[in-house]
Amino acid sequence: MAGWPVTSFGISSSVTSKLAINGGEPIRTAPWPSWPVWDRTVEKEIADMYRTGNWYRSTGNLCQEFEKKYAELVGAKHCLATASGTTSLSVALHSLGIDAGDEVLVSPFTFIATYNVIFMAKALPVFVDTDPETFLMDPKKIEERITERTTAILPVHIYGYPCDMDAINAIAKKHNLKVIEDACQAWSAKYKGKNAGTLGDLGCFSFQNSKHLPAGEGGAVVGNHDEVMDICYSYHNCGSPYGGIKSDSPYPIRGANFRMQHVQALILMSQMKRFTDDAALREQNATYLDNKLKNIPGIVPCKKVDGAEKSAYHLYPIRYKKEEFNNASRDTFMKALSSEGIPSMKGYGKQNKDGLIEDALTSRGYKRLFGDKWLDSWREKNVLPGNDQLTEEAVAFYQSMLLGSKKDMDDIVNAITKIYENRRQLG
Ligand SMILES: Cc1ncc(COP(=O)(O)O)c(C=O)c1O
Repeated sequence: MAGWPVTSFGISSSVTSKLAINGGEPIRTAPWPSWPVWDRTVEKEIADMYRTGNWYRSTGNLCQEFEKKYAELVGAKHCLATASGTTSLSVALHSLGIDAGDEVLVSPFTFIATYNVIFMAKALPVFVDTDPETFLMDPKKIEERITERTTAILPVHIYGYPCDMDAINAIAKKHNLKVIEDACQAWSAKYKGKNAGTLGDLGCFSFQNSKHLPAGEGGAVVGNHDEVMDICYSYHNCGSPYGGIKSDSPYPIRGANFRMQHVQALILMSQMKRFTDDAALREQNATYLDNKLKNIPGIVPCKKVDGAEKSAYHLYPIRYKKEEFNNASRDTFMKALSSEGIPSMKGYGKQNKDGLIEDALTSRGYKRLFGDKWLDSWREKNVLPGNDQLTEEAVAFYQSMLLGSKKDMDDIVNAITKIYENRRQLG
């Protein structure tokens, strides 16, 4: 709001303002940038493709064209386009040999698909605690969760913040484990000069509608290992022979149909034209927010791990410390923010206790595969204090808000500053 004096945080102040949640004037009433954003040039390309009748992968080459471009974008030798991020993770798990009765170490602070795919493989997700400062799998907590059944680690670059991949890869090497990166929110996030998704054995991406490269639905697996990628291609296409997989049988390996359609590839290639500029703008605005918000007591921006050069900022996350805000609950803080014209979301809950987990653990198949004693021990060890803390403190802003102007970012900072300075009004 123009004309306010400057506070100690370097932001315009409203020391005497009535909070909008209590009927005061809001910081902002203007709408935020919406998502997805598209131009009309792709309409003709879609119509042209439609008229050929070549709509599916095996006729036409648009999916293949997209794969080449995406591999170049992320710096991987191979890219396989898939129907979704979920299916890309399923392809990766299967192709790296994750099997029924295995355990996969996974982050609990993630979208549910990350561990749904482990259940789909009839393996057991073993949740590694989260470092609340980084929102990511805490490498110090990995080794204590390894058992003789562990075959893989599935770290998640959540909100686009790269995990501590050197530490994770070192542990994987020591214990002979595969590493599958869930980079479904981390397109072109950078760690030590490389892109997220190219740091483990395989990396998986999502192009669902909310994502920075949206196509309604879509996904990709990227990797550098020829033979593993041949299995990925083959598995996602009903197990048909591919590359080095030669056989007289039309279906030499097990498979599924996880193919992308050409229409998705066309939308993705058109979205790629704006991707780099969008990413730069998000980064610029997120850095601006980091520098401003860290000065407000009780607001803690997410910390990047050592070596993480760039987040993709699928969301812009902070932690909210209610002690500094007159003990107002996070829900109250978020309602106050919303009243000031700033939408936000909480992020993930205590998903290591989700109903679907007991649904699996009490199923006939899991009891047969693991036995009651093993499953009881899993339940006992499923204690994650760091993650519990984070699920109570996290607040995040939508990625599309980061496509706004500096003035838009100031609205976020001003709203939080106003709420902080008037925290007594939160009751
Ligand atoms: C971290 C993470 N993993 C996996 C997925 C699954 O991707 P999709 O929705 O494309 O199946 C998503 C998508 O929201 C995600 O955010």
